[in-house]
Amino acid sequence: MTVRAASALLLVSGLSACSGPQSVLDPAGRDAQVLASLFWVMFTGAVILWLAMNGIFLTVTRFIKREMSERKAETLIIGGGIVFPTVVLAGLLTYALAEMPRQRERGEGLTVRVVGESWWWRVEYLPDGSSEPVVSANEIRLPAGSRSEIELAANGVIHAFWIPALGGKTDMIPGRTTRMSLEPVTPGTYRGQCTEFCGESHAMMAFGAVVMEPESFDAWLRKEAAPADPPESPEAIRGREVFVTEGCGACHTIRGTQAQGRVGPDLTHLGGRTTLAAGILPMETDELVRWIRDPESIKPGARMPGYDHLDDARLRALATYLEGLT
Ligand code: CUA
Repeated sequence: MTVRAASALLLVSGLSACSGPQSVLDPAGRDAQVLASLFWVMFTGAVILWLAMNGIFLTVTRFIKREMSERKAETLIIGGGIVFPTVVLAGLLTYALAEMPRQRERGEGLTVRVVGESWWWRVEYLPDGSSEPVVSANEIRLPAGSRSEIELAANGVIHAFWIPALGGKTDMIPGRTTRMSLEPVTPGTYRGQCTEFCGESHAMMAFGAVVMEPESFDAWLRKEAAPADPPESPEAIRGREVFVTEGCGACHTIRGTQAQGRVGPDLTHLGGRTTLAAGILPMETDELVRWIRDPESIKPGARMPGYDHLDDARLRALATYLEGLT
């Protein structure tokens, strides 16, 4: 590949990363807006400095043929090498430090507790004044227009929580609770990602991040708090039987049923989520079948065993039941 082709490819891939559901440069929250402006200020400063340095270099090497006096050279070194960078860096530092306190502000109203597991997310919602959490998994929903408190923990190994469109990242450390707050502005569906290497499926530890209008969020949370509706279609009823006979309830909870396992993700409203397997598959019957049959082939190291001993009909019935848990 020629240098020009490589640069063009780099530019195109660089620019294509500037938008989309997982971009810091396409902010949908107050905190991400601050970080994006910080980036543009730094980037513009860097470009100006780069042009100035190269300008001086060219001037001195190409255009000024005569030798420079010692005094002039000294002024250039002290001015350009010490005074100028000190002033510029102090200015940038002051600007960045002034922006920081807001990122540490306490949230008001909703608290969301997130625990990093291998390799998925345990999620609990605590509305204002409530001590009884609404348990969910692998998706974070937040109301637009208010600052929510995010409490972070980890089980076993370190992870990091990051929704680029909404704000900065925070480590999740076993045995400790870390915190941050987020103030989403624009309703929409975004994407979060674990950003600390946590094992073989680190790159497959993502989640959907949904920002909703406050009224829709309240309605959604009420529904999420309710137990699962019993299945109605014959296929889904057969699926529930498979779920019971295969012992899926030993690891998973479906509120309103006998299934009370806490090892794996809560499945009470699985079908209502935007993604499957922690942000890596679309919520579709075929994908559910593929996942249940052989999770290892999709997410190496996944703790869930494969169910390839089930025939297609039973797998499909099970997937239909789970997808119907909206
Ligand atoms: Cu969890 Cu990387």
